[in-house]
Amino acid sequence: MNPVSTQSQTRDLEGKVAVITGGTKGIGRASARKLAARGANVVVNYFRSRSAADETVAELRQYGVEALAVRGNIGNKDFHEKLFDQVAQAFGHVDILISNAALGLFANIMDVDQRAWDLSLHTNAEALLFCAQKAVPIMPPGGKIVALSSLGANRYIPGYAAIGISKAAIETLTRYLAFELAPKSINVNTVSGGFVDTDALKSFPNYEDMLREVVKRTPFGRVGNSDEIADVVVFLCTDAARWITGQIVVVDGGYSLT
Ligand SMILES: NC(=O)c1ccc[n+]([C@@H]2O[C@H](COP(=O)([O-])OP(=O)(O)OC[C@H]3O[C@@H](n4cnc5c(N)ncnc54)[C@H](OP(=O)(O)O)[C@@H]3O)[C@@H](O)[C@H]2O)c1
Repeated sequence: MNPVSTQSQTRDLEGKVAVITGGTKGIGRASARKLAARGANVVVNYFRSRSAADETVAELRQYGVEALAVRGNIGNKDFHEKLFDQVAQAFGHVDILISNAALGLFANIMDVDQRAWDLSLHTNAEALLFCAQKAVPIMPPGGKIVALSSLGANRYIPGYAAIGISKAAIETLTRYLAFELAPKSINVNTVSGGFVDTDALKSFPNYEDMLREVVKRTPFGRVGNSDEIADVVVFLCTDAARWITGQIVVVDGGYSLT
């Protein structure tokens, strides 16, 4: 997308500060791009790929906003404080937290060992809880927290047990956070995405078969893309979504209807 072509679109998020965990690829990067296009300054967290982080920051700055990449494992509890210290130092506050990064090991339920359990629960569910705890003290009224879940939170996906359980925890956390942060005028919601063809999906052991099955079962006859999830994520970060909280918004092209 040419950043110049978006200059005419609304800059309703001008001056806002957004933190996106896993903001350098896939859905996180698409969300970062859309927030920057609307004028938000963006902090993207990542863990392994420095080149993707550098590219993302360069791309975001083309929208005339400030952008920063912070490397660190979001599954590591010591990192959350460091991340939000850096955000506070750079911007003084945070208006939007998108808890997006995810990791997991594929295994059927009887083979889920401590490592697989810990990896999913720490990276996916605990990160939402502890990042929210660090973000909220520097989040003014009108703040927005959005997490990413998947259909595996409440449906069976082969090999997805530990990840699905961590996503179910995210969905329950969403409701508790929403209720308890409403007095601070902070909205908390989750987008539950259907299958999207990103690096994460390619890591599924039966990727090709799964893709075929998804296309067959989706009424639109295709798999979704990162922009289609990010559009809803970003909507939930705007004032237009101020009366939505504690919700799990399914964005799957109708896949889960059957
Ligand atoms: N793709 C789908 O079909 C799908 C469907 C439903 C929901 N979702 C959810 O949407 C979210 C994004 O998925 P995606 O498909 O866009 O993923 P992706 O393309 O694989 O990107 C993942 C991002 O997270 C970062 N990351 C991974 N582990 C991290 C860690 N421990 N600490 C910090 N950053 C980390 C990655 O950076 P590095 O590589 O540099 O570490 C990258 O920026 C996830 O929560 C996923 O469960 C995805």
